[in-house]
Amino acid sequence: MASITSELQSVLQQAAQEMGLAIESESIEIEHPADVLNGDYSTNMALTVFSSLKKNATPLQKNIQTPRALADVLVEEIKKVLSVTPSVVINNITVAGPGFINFHLSDTFLLEELSKVVQKRGEVLLQSGGAKKVIVEYSSPNIAKPFTIGHLRTTIIGDAVANMLQATGWHVFRDNHLGDWGTQFGKQIYAIKHYGNEEDIDNSDEPVKELVNLYIRFHEEAEKNPEIVDEAREWFKKLEMGDSEARRLWKKCIDWSLKEFERIYKVLNITFTENDGIGYGESFFEDKMTSVIQELQEKKLLTSSEGAQLVFFPADKYPPLMIMKKDGATLYATRDLAADKFRKDHYGKDIVIINEVGGEQSLYFQQIYATEQLLGWFTKDQRIHVKHGMYRFKDKKMSTRKGNVVWLNDVLIEAFEHVKERASQAHIQKTSDERNSVLRDGELWKIAVGALKWNDLKREAIKEIIFDWDEILSLQGNSGPYVQYVYARCRSVLEKATNYEEKNVLDLMKMQYIPNTEEKTVLRLLYQFSEVVERAQHELAPHFICTYLFEVAQSFNTFYNKHSILDEASSDHSAFRLHLTKGTSLVLQKGLELLGIQTVEKM
Ligand code: ARG
Repeated sequence: MASITSELQSVLQQAAQEMGLAIESESIEIEHPADVLNGDYSTNMALTVFSSLKKNATPLQKNIQTPRALADVLVEEIKKVLSVTPSVVINNITVAGPGFINFHLSDTFLLEELSKVVQKRGEVLLQSGGAKKVIVEYSSPNIAKPFTIGHLRTTIIGDAVANMLQATGWHVFRDNHLGDWGTQFGKQIYAIKHYGNEEDIDNSDEPVKELVNLYIRFHEEAEKNPEIVDEAREWFKKLEMGDSEARRLWKKCIDWSLKEFERIYKVLNITFTENDGIGYGESFFEDKMTSVIQELQEKKLLTSSEGAQLVFFPADKYPPLMIMKKDGATLYATRDLAADKFRKDHYGKDIVIINEVGGEQSLYFQQIYATEQLLGWFTKDQRIHVKHGMYRFKDKKMSTRKGNVVWLNDVLIEAFEHVKERASQAHIQKTSDERNSVLRDGELWKIAVGALKWNDLKREAIKEIIFDWDEILSLQGNSGPYVQYVYARCRSVLEKATNYEEKNVLDLMKMQYIPNTEEKTVLRLLYQFSEVVERAQHELAPHFICTYLFEVAQSFNTFYNKHSILDEASSDHSAFRLHLTKGTSLVLQKGLELLGIQTVEKM
C-alpha cells in the first residue's frame, strides 16, 4: 500500500526536520528488506543524508560521526514524532548494519489488513489510472500464417497488462492489430486458385495449415516459373482495386484464419473489445493511409530517395523509415501510422497506446514513435512498447519440426496431454475418497493453460524463455500449477469448515490475537497485495505479481504443513487460521485472475 510508504516518508521527513535537515519526503527511499528479520520496511536515508551533514551543521548534528549514529538520532526523533501522533502501523523501529532504519509493523495492523482483504474479497481498489484511457494492443497474429508461440507471448503478456491497468482504474481498450493486409495476399490468392480446393480448406480443422502449405507451394513453383510472381502481383493489385473475386478469396482467408485463432483465444480465455471483439486489423487502415502520407508531406517530413518516400530522423538518430515504395505501395509502417492516427482521432488526443510486440521489433517501434512525435500527434509517454524475448526450445523434437515453425495448437494439445497424464499418475496414489474428485477436462485445460501462462509471465518479459515441459508443469517449483494447487488446498480446507464465519473472526481480531511465526509470515505478505499490483501496473511488468504470488503460496504451504487448521474447530486458533486461509485464497485467486489464469477448486 502506497499509503504506508508515504506515512513512513512523512514521519522520517518530520524527524529530519527536527534535526534541522530539510528533506523532501518523496525523495526518501522506502523498501521491503529482503530478510524479514530486518522488519517490513527499511530506509537507507541515514546513509544518503550523512554526507550533507558536514556543511553548516547545527548543534544537534555536530556530534554525529557516522551514518549509523545519524540513524540512531533519527530513530530517537521518530519516536518523539510518534509520541505526538501515534501510529497504529509501526510497532518497532531498529537500526541495522551501517545505518539502515528498519520498521516493524504491528500485529494489529497486519490483522486488520487481513480482515480488509477478506471483506473486500481480494479486490484491489486502486485508482492510479485516474480513469485515463489506454489502448492495449496485443496478440496481432497474421492471417494465413501460423499463430506462433511468439504470438502466444504477446497474447498472454498483453492480456495481463490490460488486466492490471483495468484493475487500477484505467479505461482499457483491448485491440488486436491483425496482419490481414499486404502483398503476400496476391501470392496467397494465386496459390488458392491454382493449387488449392476451397471446399477442402472449408472442411479442414486446421485451415491455416492448408493455407501455409499453399503459400510454400507458391514459392516452390515460383523458383521454376518466376512469371507467376507477376501474376501474384496482379492479384494484389486487383485486391486493392476491389475486384470481387480477389476480395472474396482474401475475405475467406480471414474467415478461415479467424476460425482457428478464435478457437485458440477461447482455450486461452482471451478477449478483445475493439471492432466487435475482432480488433482493427491492418486492412481497416487501407483507406486511411493517403491522409497520413499527405500530412507527412505537408509537415515536410518525407524525403524521396530513388523514388521511395522516407522519413529521416533528426541527427539520424534512427535509420530512415520507409513510408512508400517506389511503385507507390504502402508498407507495414504506413498502416501503423494510419492506425495511430485513427486512434488519436477516435479515442481522443490524450490516449495512451501500448504495443505488446516482440523485442525484435524494437527499432521499428522507436522509428514509429519518433515519427509520431515529429507529426505532433503524441508526447513520448503516450506511446509505449512492451516487449518480450524469444522462445528457445530445449526439447529437440519441438525445434526440429518441419519448417521450424511451432504451431501453437500442437503446444496447447501437448500441454493438455501432459497435465492429464500427470493428473492420472497422481491419482493412482490417492485414496478412494479423493479418487471421486477426478478432474474433468475443463479443469485440466485450466491447469494446462495456467501452466503456459505462468511460464510466460513469471520472468521479466524481455528475457528469453527456454521452453521446458518439466519446469512448466512442475508441482513443486515456481509454476502455475503449483500456485493453482495451493489455492485448491485453501478451498478444500474452507469447504470442510462448516462453522467458519467471517464475522466472528472480526471479533477475534479485536481480541489482539498473537500470530505465530508461520502465520505472521503469511500476514506479512497479504497486506502487500495492492502495493505489488500497483508496482506491476506502473512498470507494466506482470512478473512482479508472479514473484509475489509464489511467495504467498510457499509461505501458506509452510504454514499448512506445520499447523492444523480444522482440528481445533472451536478454538480461536482455528477461527483465525481459517481467516488466514480465506485471505490467502482470495489473494491467490485475484492475483491469478490479473494474470489471466483461472483457478480450479480441486486438484
Ligand atoms: N502482425 C505482426 C507480427 O506478427 C505484429 C503486429 C504488431 N503490432 C503493430 N502495431 N505493428 O509480427
